[in-house]
Amino acid sequence: MENQARIPVHVSIIMDGNGRWASQRGKERVQGHIEGTERVPEITAECARLGVKYVSFYTFSEENWNRPKEEVEFLMKLMWKSLHDKLEEMMNQGVKFLILGNRERLNPMLRSYIEEVEKVTATNSTITAILFLSYSGKWDILQAAKSLAREAASDPDVLSRLDSMTQDDFSRYLVTRDVPDPDLIIRTSGEKRISNYLLWQGAYSEFYFTDTLWPDFHKENLREAITEYGSRDRRYGKVK
Ligand code: IPE
Ligand code: IPE
Ligand code: MG
Repeated sequence: MENQARIPVHVSIIMDGNGRWASQRGKERVQGHIEGTERVPEITAECARLGVKYVSFYTFSEENWNRPKEEVEFLMKLMWKSLHDKLEEMMNQGVKFLILGNRERLNPMLRSYIEEVEKVTATNSTITAILFLSYSGKWDILQAAKSLAREAASDPDVLSRLDSMTQDDFSRYLVTRDVPDPDLIIRTSGEKRISNYLLWQGAYSEFYFTDTLWPDFHKENLREAITEYGSRDRRYGKVK
C-alpha cells in the first residue's frame, strides 16, 4: 500500500464504541475509554509513517457534556493524564498538537495544560495531531459567524467587504483555520452518522464506516481504510 499514490493529507476519526467495547467484556465504560486512549498514539504514529500530514480525533463533543457527571469528569482527567504520559513519546516522534473546540467550558487547569502542550509542540513538523475537544460543527460555524459579526460591527473595512466574502474567507473564522479539510473521515463502531462533527469542513470528505469498536482499531484497520480511500473517485460535483 505504501507505493500507492493516494495517501490522504488529513485523516479524521470519529472514535466511537468505547462503552460497548467495555460492556462486551463485562467492564465499566471507563475501561473502554482507557483502552481507546491507547489507540491515539498508535494511529498517529502509523499515519506519520504513511505520510499523512494531519490526523484528527473527535475526542469529546459538545453534546458529550450531557453524559453522567462522573463519566465527563473521568474523561477530562483521562485527557489530561494521557497528554501528560504520552508527551515525551509524541515529542520524539515530531508530533505537533492542536486542541480545538469550546475551551471556555473546560476546567481552567486542563485549559492551561492544553495551551502548554500546544506551545511545546508548536515547532514539531512530522505530523499535526488535532484533538477536537468540546467541539461540535454547529458550535464552530456559530462562533465563526459571531466573530465575523463582531469584526464587522467594529471595523468598517470588514463590513464593506461582506458582499464579496468567499467561502474560503469565511472558513478562516472557523477554529480549523490552520488545518486543511479532512480528505477521509473514519467512524468506528458501526454508527453511520456525523454526530455534529466537521459539518463545514467535511463537505467533500470521503467517509469510511467500520463495525470495529475504537479500542480494537489498530494500525492494520487504518491501512484498510486508507487503501479503500485510494480507490474512491472524488468528483467534487464535476463530470469526469
Ligand atoms: C466514544 O465512545 C468516546 C466518546 C464519545 C467520548 P462512546 O463512549 O461513545 O462508546 P459507545 O458509543 O457508548 O459504545
Ligand atoms: C461521537 O460519538 C462523539 C465522539 C466520538 C467524541 P457519540 O457516541 O457521542 O455519538 P452519538 O451520540 O452516538 O451520535
Ligand atoms: Mg458512542
